Amino acid sequence: MKTRYALLLSLSLSLATAAHADETAELWTAKCKSCHGADGKAQTPTGKKESIVDMSQPAWQKAESDAEIRKYIANGSSKNKKMKAYKDKLSPEQIDSLVAYIRTLKKG
Ligand code: HEC
Repeated sequence: MKTRYALLLSLSLSLATAAHADETAELWTAKCKSCHGADGKAQTPTGKKESIVDMSQPAWQKAESDAEIRKYIANGSSKNKKMKAYKDKLSPEQIDSLVAYIRTLKKG
C-alpha cells in the first residue's frame, strides 16, 4: 500500500513538472519570443534593431548569473526601455522558471 502511494506520488510529481515546463515554454512564446526569438538568438526585427544579445551563446550564458537574469526580467533594462519590467506581470515562480528556460537555450 505504501509503495503504491509513493509510486502515485512520484508519478503525479513528474506530471506536474512536465506541465510546468510546457507552461514556461508557452510563457516564453507569448511574452518573450517576439523580440528574443523562439531560440533566444534575437533574430527578430526588434532583436536586430536593438542589437539584443544572443542568449544561446555559451559566453553569454557563462557571464550572466541566474540572479542577474532574474533581475533583468523583474526590473527590465535601464539601458533599453523595450525590455520592460515583468515583476508586476509575472509571479516570482514564473520568473524563476523563465531563468531556467533561458538556460535550456544554450547551444551545444
Ligand atoms: C519588446 C521587446 C522585448 C520583449 C517582449 C522582451 N524583451 Fe528581453 N530584452 C529586450 C531588449 C531590447 C533587451 C536588451 C536590453 C539592454 O540592452 O539592456 C532585452 C534584454 C533581456 C535580457 C538581458 C540580456 C542581456 O543583455 O544580458 C534578458 C534576460 C531578457 N531580455 C529576458 C526577457 C524575457 C524572459 C522576456 C519575456 C518575459 C523578455 N525579455 C521580453 C527586448 C524585449
